[in-house]
Amino acid sequence: MGTGNLAETLGRAWAGAGHTLSVTGRDPQRVTQAVDRIGRAANAVDPADFAAQVDVVVVAVAWDGLTAALTLIGADAGRLAGKTVIDCTNAIDFATGALKPTSGSAAELVARTAVDAHVVKALHLFAGASWPYEGPQDAAPVVAICGDDPSALERTTTLIRDLGARTAVVGGLTAARQLEEAAGFVMRVVAAGHNPRSAVPDVDPALLRAAPAAS
Ligand SMILES: NC(=O)c1ccc[n+]([C@@H]2O[C@H](COP(=O)([O-])OP(=O)(O)OC[C@H]3O[C@@H](n4cnc5c(N)ncnc54)[C@H](OP(=O)(O)O)[C@@H]3O)[C@@H](O)[C@H]2O)c1
Repeated sequence: MGTGNLAETLGRAWAGAGHTLSVTGRDPQRVTQAVDRIGRAANAVDPADFAAQVDVVVVAVAWDGLTAALTLIGADAGRLAGKTVIDCTNAIDFATGALKPTSGSAAELVARTAVDAHVVKALHLFAGASWPYEGPQDAAPVVAICGDDPSALERTTTLIRDLGARTAVVGGLTAARQLEEAAGFVMRVVAAGHNPRSAVPDVDPALLRAAPAAS
């Protein structure tokens, strides 16, 4: 769902991994242009027909259009019920990293709007241009994800593996706000002139596990 930068870059990466893509959006001309840029694995689909044609929905629209986009594909009428819905949106001012005022997380808004869908927060932190990752596996990006449905988390993990990355499941959907704030943190560090890679501690979980418990 979406025809912008993220939809296109993810679409191209998944097409390269052998997936077939259905692309939809509010503007048929933009949908056709996105499909042309993604290539032969992508099909332009009318929003009304979209839900019936897909197993997994990737929500890649501007935060301001999130509810409208979900309504366009019938999410509020239960048309995504039982499907995995991956929410990639950021409710963030990109220039400053400031979070836009929301009640709860964007992913929880998606879950409230998309009746009975299995929502996973994922892929909001890395630029779309990061995919596919083709470097050494031990340096592959770790995509933190969260959600309440185990099969939806599993499907998302498979799709992220197809981008060349690994996943860390950090909790249920209530963890989404924290994941979304992490994107704001990253942008604030960038806005302050630093690489966010240098702004988080280097913690080896194996060493933490091996450390004796404090008495
Ligand atoms: N770009 C990235 O690298 C990246 C990475 C991680 C997360 N994200 C997040 O992914 C989302 C999309 O980012 P983007 O860079 O792809 O943005 P973008 O290039 O500006 O595209 C925005 C998309 O949202 C659609 N949209 C806006 N308002 C809408 C509405 N009312 N109803 C239906 N569709 C609407 C636009 O449709 P029209 O074309 O018809 O205007 C377009 O398809 C954002 O939430 C962003 O924070 C982006």
